[in-house]
Amino acid sequence: MDSLSKPEVAGLLERLFTASDAGDPELLARIQKEADSRFAGQRYAPELAPLFDQAYLPVPPEVGRLLYLLTRAYRPRCVVEVGTSFGVSAIHFACALKDNGGGRLISTELSRKKADRAAANLAALGLSEFVEIRCGDAFDLLRNVGGRIDLLFLDGWKDSYLPLLRLLESSLGMGSLVIADDIRLFPERLAPYLGHVREPANGYRSIELPIGDGVEVSVRT
Ligand SMILES: C[S@@+](CC[C@H](N)C(=O)[O-])C[C@H]1O[C@@H](n2cnc3c(N)ncnc32)[C@H](O)[C@@H]1O
Repeated sequence: MDSLSKPEVAGLLERLFTASDAGDPELLARIQKEADSRFAGQRYAPELAPLFDQAYLPVPPEVGRLLYLLTRAYRPRCVVEVGTSFGVSAIHFACALKDNGGGRLISTELSRKKADRAAANLAALGLSEFVEIRCGDAFDLLRNVGGRIDLLFLDGWKDSYLPLLRLLESSLGMGSLVIADDIRLFPERLAPYLGHVREPANGYRSIELPIGDGVEVSVRT
């Protein structure tokens, strides 16, 4: 049986998705209300960070399965993720790496509380050995990844996608995969990123998959 199908993995993922469905919509509405009334619409004001700490914001189940499938098929040795949150996508990557027989995920998360929760979730499933969670800003933490990044998953705040890709571009090799989540949710903020990966002259071939809130899958050429 593959790791994703194990009852303890499926059960924990189900609980995380249920908690997200139950709490995130109300939390996000509250964050937006506070942002509009106190911070000129700026959702990422530091004062609002404690509210974001409680928001799961996971990849939806079908995107999680896509991450698992691509990782199984492509067999990356080094996966890098921006935005661990409570660990839903990280659990999918870790299951695939385990089933592949090796490889590692470096996952970055701004919030200490979330990084700790994700680490506990991975530990509960016996998947810690496949994942290194780095707590802090991905721009600082990924400056020296060391070696080739085979698969890069972008799921942090959307304005950071293009600057982070540019920062990490020298670590991508021919055939490296770059997967960006939520591209339909924030079309204006993601337009510069999509313009970059959709221009073959920049060294990518790219396609949008209409699952979840839109996933852009790009391959370094
Ligand atoms: C959409 S959630 C990630 C969901 C996660 N991939 C999952 O499937 O459970 C976005 C997360 O990215 C984190 N984040 C945003 N910008 C970041 C950055 N520059 N470095 C590290 N983490 C970041 C946020 O704190 C938030 O927890």
